[in-house]
Amino acid sequence: MKVSVIGTGYVGLTAACLADFGHNVVLIGRSKDKIDVINQGASPIYEPGLDEVLKRNISAGRLHATTDYKEIDDSDVVFICVGTPSNDDGSIDLSQVEECSIQIAERLKNSSKYKIIVVKSTVVPKTTKNFVIPVLEKHSGKKAGKDFGVGMNPEFLREGTGVYDFVNPDKIVIGGLDEKSTATLSTLYENFDKKFHRVTTDLTTAEMIKYAQNSALAARISFINEIANICEKYSVDVKEVAHAIGLDTRIGQRFLSAGIGFGGSCFPKDVNALISAAKAVGINPVFLQTIMEINERQPHRLVELAKEAAGDLHGKTIAVLGLAFKNDTDDMRESRATPIINSLLHAGANVRAHDPRAMENAKEIFGDKIEYCNSKEECVRGADLCMIVTEWDEFRNLDLNSVKCPVIDGRRVLDPEKAKSHGLIYKGIGYKGNFGV
Ligand code: UDX
Repeated sequence: MKVSVIGTGYVGLTAACLADFGHNVVLIGRSKDKIDVINQGASPIYEPGLDEVLKRNISAGRLHATTDYKEIDDSDVVFICVGTPSNDDGSIDLSQVEECSIQIAERLKNSSKYKIIVVKSTVVPKTTKNFVIPVLEKHSGKKAGKDFGVGMNPEFLREGTGVYDFVNPDKIVIGGLDEKSTATLSTLYENFDKKFHRVTTDLTTAEMIKYAQNSALAARISFINEIANICEKYSVDVKEVAHAIGLDTRIGQRFLSAGIGFGGSCFPKDVNALISAAKAVGINPVFLQTIMEINERQPHRLVELAKEAAGDLHGKTIAVLGLAFKNDTDDMRESRATPIINSLLHAGANVRAHDPRAMENAKEIFGDKIEYCNSKEECVRGADLCMIVTEWDEFRNLDLNSVKCPVIDGRRVLDPEKAKSHGLIYKGIGYKGNFGV
């Protein structure tokens, strides 16, 4: 099929992956610089495996990028994959969706080929029906369901494993305005090897599924973080508890890693947007609000542990291992490293940090307020305290001989017994020995 994908951000990796399944794809973006980079087979975002998929499909002639909306004219399906950031009050900012819908509508006006316009960006319930369709109709002078089809097809890709997740979905959710839209969208996903669940539904339910799913995952994280904080006080290890409860198939093991909370471009934004959307229809979303409240509190738990280990942090040199919001990404958006480092600086500590990928992005946030180290070894050398903030694999095998200070493990990546056998003071989120037991 002929496909257009609008948006060169994270969701836009859909373009490269769909091309890999044999579709003819054009990726449309605003930034000429980004488009040039992509056409050379390089990804503008760091995502393992994406460069190879881009190169393979560009050289096979199945994928190219452009700034020109004219290229959607020949498409069967047009995906809207632009960003939907938060407004200051947590509600969703639809300006990019609007701008892109207007551009699509301008092309629909003069094009005779029937197309399905599909929203892949995360948008709150009723956005496709009450916002996108009216914009498309107004600016094209055409009628949804008659002159063009409409779909809502949320993505569930995780950063760092986006390419793998695309090829190996648990499910694909297809919301359609009508049967023709749903059927056309379904055929796009026909060549997948992996068996997955196909959920076909209406536009608004598809939107709601995405928010409910991200809220459920965020809820598990806040739940286990609260349990972790309680565990510590009773000298119980949250890892043992999480493992045991996860053995119940009704609960399962995944997304029960206690730590310093969730960050990234999705969970905080999406839970907040759902809170806003709930309030707009007269629901008081106390549960969702609590998920966020626990998440805001959790980074400060790590700073408390640091103070318990090292006393007053004023004038202390603190090695922060990890800056990205999680491993295998350079993304600093909503990273829990930010409130932690700000709190350390506020307490008068000297912060030095290392991250395998996110240092450049971190410089835009912290500037010269912190020191940047080229390796984990350099970072911990001579430090008064070491704090692990991101769950990178390379921190799991930190050479404990190179560490001469207490370690505060925000992601429970180290083996506490091993750290102690090296004579180190070890404290971690949900660790049973935090209070010397
Ligand atoms: C998430 C969803 O998983 C994905 O389906 C959706 O499309 C986009 O949002 P992502 O933000 O890339 O993906 O990362 P994810 O792996 O879900 O982790 C999010 C945050 O939760 C990270 O900060 C991570 O460190 C944290 N996390 C995750 C935990 O603290 N504990 C866990 O058990 C899992």
